[in-house]
Amino acid sequence: MPSLNDIRSTYLDFFQRNGHRVVESSPLVPRNDPTLMFANSGMVQFKNLFTGVETRDYTRATTAQKCVRAGGKHNDLDNVGYTARHHTFFEMLGNFSFGDYFKESAIPFAWELLTKDFDIDPKRLLVTVYHTDDEAADLWKKVAGLGDDRIIRIATDDNFWRMGPTGPCGPCTEIFYDHGDSIWGGPPGSADEDGDRYIEIWNNVFMQNEQMPDGTLRKLDMQSIDTGMGLERIGALLQGKHDNYDTDLMRSLIEASAHATSNDPDGPGKVHHRVIADHLRSTSFLIADGVMPSNEGRGYVLRRIMRRAMRHAHMLGAQDPVMHRLVPALVRQMGAAYPELGRAQAMIEETLKAEETKFRTTLDRGLRLLDDELAKIPEGAALPGEAAFKLYDTFGFPLDLTQDALRERGLTVDTAGFDAAMAEQKAKARAAWSGTGETKDAAIWFDLAEEHGATEFLGYDTETAEGQVLALVQKGAAVPVAKQGDEVQIVVNQSPFYAESGGQVGDAGIIRTATGEARVTDVKKSANVFIHVATVTMGEIAKGQGAELVVDHARRAAIQGNHSATHLLNEALRGVLGDHVAQRGSLNAPDRMRFDFSHQKALSADEIAKVEAEVNHYIRQNGAVTTRLMSPDDARGLGAQALFGEKYGEEVRVVSMGALPGSKKGTDGQTYSIELCGGTHVARLGEIGLFVLLSDSASSAGVRRVEALTGQAALDHLNAQGARLAEIAGVLKAPANEVVERVKALADERKALANEVAQLRRELAMGGGAKGGPEAKEIGGVKFIAQAVSGVSGKDLPALVDALKGTVGSGAVLVVADTGGKAAVAAGVTADLTAKVSAVDLVRAAAEALGGKGGGGRPDMAQAGGADPAKAPEAIAAAEAVLAAL
Ligand code: SER
Repeated sequence: MPSLNDIRSTYLDFFQRNGHRVVESSPLVPRNDPTLMFANSGMVQFKNLFTGVETRDYTRATTAQKCVRAGGKHNDLDNVGYTARHHTFFEMLGNFSFGDYFKESAIPFAWELLTKDFDIDPKRLLVTVYHTDDEAADLWKKVAGLGDDRIIRIATDDNFWRMGPTGPCGPCTEIFYDHGDSIWGGPPGSADEDGDRYIEIWNNVFMQNEQMPDGTLRKLDMQSIDTGMGLERIGALLQGKHDNYDTDLMRSLIEASAHATSNDPDGPGKVHHRVIADHLRSTSFLIADGVMPSNEGRGYVLRRIMRRAMRHAHMLGAQDPVMHRLVPALVRQMGAAYPELGRAQAMIEETLKAEETKFRTTLDRGLRLLDDELAKIPEGAALPGEAAFKLYDTFGFPLDLTQDALRERGLTVDTAGFDAAMAEQKAKARAAWSGTGETKDAAIWFDLAEEHGATEFLGYDTETAEGQVLALVQKGAAVPVAKQGDEVQIVVNQSPFYAESGGQVGDAGIIRTATGEARVTDVKKSANVFIHVATVTMGEIAKGQGAELVVDHARRAAIQGNHSATHLLNEALRGVLGDHVAQRGSLNAPDRMRFDFSHQKALSADEIAKVEAEVNHYIRQNGAVTTRLMSPDDARGLGAQALFGEKYGEEVRVVSMGALPGSKKGTDGQTYSIELCGGTHVARLGEIGLFVLLSDSASSAGVRRVEALTGQAALDHLNAQGARLAEIAGVLKAPANEVVERVKALADERKALANEVAQLRRELAMGGGAKGGPEAKEIGGVKFIAQAVSGVSGKDLPALVDALKGTVGSGAVLVVADTGGKAAVAAGVTADLTAKVSAVDLVRAAAEALGGKGGGGRPDMAQAGGADPAKAPEAIAAAEAVLAAL
């Protein structure tokens, strides 16, 4: 009996043998479809190949595609566990031709694979074709020899497949398997077609049209093929089962559930095991593809599935979290075909465990409340909406979980009442919000959030994605269209652009629609709505359009490098300076980073060097960066650094870096840095490249600020420094490694020369020393020497005055200097005469004659400046007059 893994391989091998490229499943979160919550069929990733918008280096492909149908248009959640063929997660096998082969090959391929490779009895097979598709009917006759009774013409949309309201589409032929008359049911198109006897196993779509937004059907230039076959269905058939949950793969998961809860897999808890087995697959694959539980959008669908599974585990009597213990069984079954499952195993287990631990704290009380409420109402009545809302709001019961719990008792919920209670709560939230002091302009964002929900951020996993333009805002008001040259704020349902928060600046990039293009320069966030601040650069952008969103990759990479380096810096500062270091703010821009932290003193050169070396060490170690979601308490328990004073929600993202065996940092004993953070990061630390700490300054009392560079900016900085060094070495005519010694020697030499020059100048000013200097005169009973000099500076004068005082022995001296266009004058009086005459009086009189004013000093030495050095004789005369008047 072939296993599901064998069947998947047989399918892919068959088409590979027939010239098809085996293409990997695309992630569950579609990058290329703004309207789709999750990938729900194989053709999603090829959408643009059918319409000819995109071409690749292959025209035939085959895939096993991960699909989730829960939430959005296709939602199988309610039926899972209770029916034979509903799943939230399933695999779709498909073969595709993009303008290559058409019906004439698709039908023979299908027939050959089913009847030869899969060895299905041809007598058990019958097909449907679109009622006008004679060509397909003829091919079935010719290729498979089917009679008219087994080629059923269907006139409804059942045989005209559309991916949605717009997009590629075409007639299809569906292949059915007849399980025999022991099972009730009629062939397709008959009154009893809903019975279980005839099961559709394969849909072959002949893509030849495109459904246009205006309702018309366009004929595509090329004819293509899109087929889809549920692996679980064909698996059941080939394994001789009627129920998908009896296939080997599903059975092994059911048994894992039974084992973990010590239950009989086929006993009274059978439905619970089936739900758990299915939900284990969808939740694990969603987490592996980057979806995290939350209260909005995709994250909420994941949370609903998780909690639903957890209630079923609870029904089985499980006392502790169960789901995470089943992950190894799933990885054993599917890890080879989907390696992402193994890579994300730890994260899947942790996320499931955290969610289940948290939910278990309210699950019991919620179920008790449910019982109490049911006891209050007449038997068989619907649960009042108020009660369902309380379960939702206070106990974390998604509405469908309550409905699922009631289903077992044949009861329903008053959903209109639930909606009314929800609307009332929203109105209250709005009233509270208007009281928070937000400006009136900001009300538009709140309204948009109410209408459309939060913008879903896709940028942790991708830098390009498609979104839908939900609103265009100019000057605080919504507009239908923005034209070339307009500045506009664009709101989309999902975006790979990061909106500024937590110190990381908003992304820049391009938003493109069928009619125009806008350049996004910044992205902000208000009421959880991402506001893409943009200018329309081409054509026009209209509300309601599908849009391609492309983040400026180089800029994001630089921002990311800085942000990850900030985490390393935080840790290194704590390591070097001490545990008192706490982050007080940060900025992560493309060209620089800034980090504020509590610390009293400036960093020493040694500390700076140590911090820089530690960060670079971890960059070179190239450790992984991982992100997990947990409660703030669990995160703190792990030793995660949180931003001081920041309010955190119910759940926080925890970013861990540099898991190095043997590292002592972090309470898990392995991880270098653990922080609560909503930003985007490098995948491995080596991507940061290089870290240079530039400066350290005081930011405010007790807070230091450092600035740093990473990656190319750090390299540019070091290169510029290297170039300057080379330039200096060139000037010095010395090798770069001798520059320091040479500069030191030059500085010493310069100092010695300066001293020598000053000495020589003094000597020169004193008449060359050898000539004996100027003569002393006796005036007013005081010996007086005066001298006019040039080429010396004001600060040389005291030395000259002292020298003259030595010469005169007892008396007064005056030196008038031409300092290069200006005058300086200094006077001195020997100590024995200061009682009689003050140097200050002499210098003031002289300064006045020089066109200066004032002058100051002590009685034995005073100095002043003047404007006109040519007046030196008048200055000397003025000093002499002071002495003469004694
Ligand atoms: N797109 C078609 C389907 O989903 C065939 O893959 O049924």
